Amino acid sequence: MEVYIGVLLLQIFFLPHFISCDGNLSELVFPSNFLFGTASSAYQYEGGYLSDGKGFNNWDAYSHQPGNLIVDGSNGDIAVDHYHRYSEDVGLMHSLGVNSYRFSISWARILPKGRFGEINEAGIEFYNNLIDALLIKGIQPFVTLTHFDFPQELEDRYGSWMSPQSQEDFAYFADVCFKSFGDRVKYWATFNEPDYQVKFGYLTGTFPPSRCSRPFGNCTDGDSEKEPFVAAHNIILAHIAAVHIYRTKYQETQGGSIGIVLQCTWYEPISDSIADKLAVERAHAFTFNWFLEPIIFGRYPPEMRNILGSILPEFTATEKQKLNKGVDFIGVNHYTSYYVQDCMFSVCEPGFGTSKTEGFWAQSSEKNGTPIGEPVSNLNGELVWQNAYPQGLDKILTYLKDKYHNIPMFITENGYGNMNKADSTTEELLHDAKRAEYIAAYLGALSTAIRKGANVKGYFAWSLLDNFEWNNGYTIQFGLYHVDHETLTRTPKLSATWYRNFLAEHSKVQYQQQPKDANNSPFYY
Ligand code: BGC
Repeated sequence: MEVYIGVLLLQIFFLPHFISCDGNLSELVFPSNFLFGTASSAYQYEGGYLSDGKGFNNWDAYSHQPGNLIVDGSNGDIAVDHYHRYSEDVGLMHSLGVNSYRFSISWARILPKGRFGEINEAGIEFYNNLIDALLIKGIQPFVTLTHFDFPQELEDRYGSWMSPQSQEDFAYFADVCFKSFGDRVKYWATFNEPDYQVKFGYLTGTFPPSRCSRPFGNCTDGDSEKEPFVAAHNIILAHIAAVHIYRTKYQETQGGSIGIVLQCTWYEPISDSIADKLAVERAHAFTFNWFLEPIIFGRYPPEMRNILGSILPEFTATEKQKLNKGVDFIGVNHYTSYYVQDCMFSVCEPGFGTSKTEGFWAQSSEKNGTPIGEPVSNLNGELVWQNAYPQGLDKILTYLKDKYHNIPMFITENGYGNMNKADSTTEELLHDAKRAEYIAAYLGALSTAIRKGANVKGYFAWSLLDNFEWNNGYTIQFGLYHVDHETLTRTPKLSATWYRNFLAEHSKVQYQQQPKDANNSPFYY
């Protein structure tokens, strides 16, 4: 045991020095008002399933439905009980030394029946308490309006994102949030990873509302070749409606900024062929650019339009005007990278990405048997979907910087998943040196991107606590803190101690080196 603790301490002490390939901690470059935080989401954390007037939401409906695809049969009814333990959790964040916390609002806790019912004052009070508790500790709230969950009422009444009515509901919800919390919240993100939300909800049917058609999935109803694009269109217009409300009613007096969070995996061509390079462009187009190009340039990516033609909805002239420059920042969720191979001119085995609907590309974690980066595996050698390829973060940030005129960016999620098996011991789970190494390496790559001029303003580790990992239930865990799901006790892992040391060291360095040409204005363009 003593030896074990010795090893642990050694790792905590030395890991910061592995932080970048080309130097030590003091050589990392972060702008002076950089946000360092941890991230979470309402359904994955809160629990408080129907507490104090919260309405039933889409994930409550899905997780309670027999035959759903949650591997361990679990749900978020209790999750990590953040609803009742937020005060303790704010204390943990404070002890880490973070200056920001990204969390999302449970839409059904605030508006149990969307715009068809009353505001739930107890829900407003919960978020007021959380925000105030954070601010007292000097932690800036960074709020995502919705992270995959919404009132089931909207599904039952009009089919949620399949109907333009969803735009009105989202705009109403956003207005209530800006009005209630905007005096203290300065960072707003509208949606989290809408591409995953619509692909899983309407293409594979593995997220609620479980709509899809064959061969993409096995659902009772749906059309995988059309519905994802309709849902995405309504989400884009809902985003822009919320941005319009914020900019016209609140931004001047409240002084915050508003953006959207995208899943930004980096794709690398598997060969130097033009076909594979074009396939990478399509992979980007059919994932994050699907949302960013409309919101920033007012049109869908040409790669999508060329393949999908009239399946892709059109924006009206008025919508296009509103869409132009429709974010103040991009939230970048980044976990891994893949090689991409063309499937337009070559025949690929059917799989993720290969169909016309997805843009004719195939992804792979390895090339000629060599992985793109160290595979992220659990204690028993079983693979999670990640490979540690920190250069991917530098590359995606540089790509976004060049494509979107260096609009401000936040790394809204980055983290390391490990399998939590029935036979994993707590001691093993706490000793997560690999997670600390992963975060250290990605912070090094982030610093490199900033040094090269990427206008990045914050980094949020996913996640403060082990939590409910959607279809993986509690079997994959991303926390800096271990959560015993019986007792809900939180215990720091080695990675929490490492992050705390990093932040302490880093605040001493006090960001003496400023990035070359990053523009510090929140609304620079
Ligand atoms: C999602 C999180 C999720 C994380 C790890 C992201 O795609 O936003 O909700 O827990 O990935 O899988």
